[in-house]
Amino acid sequence: MLEVSIDGKRIRAEKDEFILKVAKREGIVIPTLCHHHAIAGLGSCRLCMVEIDEGTGRKVVASCVYPLKGTCEILTKSEKIIRLRRGIISMLRDRAPQDPYLQQLCTEYSVPQSQRYVLPPNLTCVLCGRCAAACAALGNGAIATVGRGTAKKVSTPYDTGSADCIGCGACAQVCPVNAIECIETKDTRTLWNKTFKLIPCEQCGVPFTTKEALDVVREKTFSSTHSNLALCPDCKRKEVLLTPVRF
Ligand code: FES
Repeated sequence: MLEVSIDGKRIRAEKDEFILKVAKREGIVIPTLCHHHAIAGLGSCRLCMVEIDEGTGRKVVASCVYPLKGTCEILTKSEKIIRLRRGIISMLRDRAPQDPYLQQLCTEYSVPQSQRYVLPPNLTCVLCGRCAAACAALGNGAIATVGRGTAKKVSTPYDTGSADCIGCGACAQVCPVNAIECIETKDTRTLWNKTFKLIPCEQCGVPFTTKEALDVVREKTFSSTHSNLALCPDCKRKEVLLTPVRF
């Protein structure tokens, strides 16, 4: 175990724990955007920056991907951090001006409402990379960041329906600013310029996923027969609750 100080509070933490995780456990709020508990650290949005002194002088690090190595002092709200965070919030807000969380941060950090950066109109994506990471981990790696500068965006190759996209919708679910268009009808789902047929839950009959997504899950979990995979989230939950626990 290590003893560290966060904003003057002495805290015990395990070696290699990320600063953000420790701070969260102690109820210390650090704003985040690209961080997602189920996805390996991206460290791309820089919103979670903190100052750390490990005995060699202070430096600024992204708390979501910085592991604790020894005794240190961390500041999550120093003057420098607040100033840097304001700039980042302003930049992210300019890319996704309608996002309620970014608007809330603007108020909290007194970020002026006027647009600071010149960007193409109608942007909604903050390029945090969560969607591509989720697609790589849970789906098939169908999307990636393409282009440069202000034209940079997340897409499928040549912006066309990709054979690698399985329509699982993980990308849209993890997007922190709701930038990914996923249109669902009663039995279809359209995203990334491709329309999929939804298949029904074996228990309740409600369409809930695509055949392509189910095939990939079966492949990844080495299960060609496990019927539980063909149940919608609600029925899966019920099945878990009704399964007797054996000791
Ligand atoms: S939340 Fe840490 S860099 Fe985005």
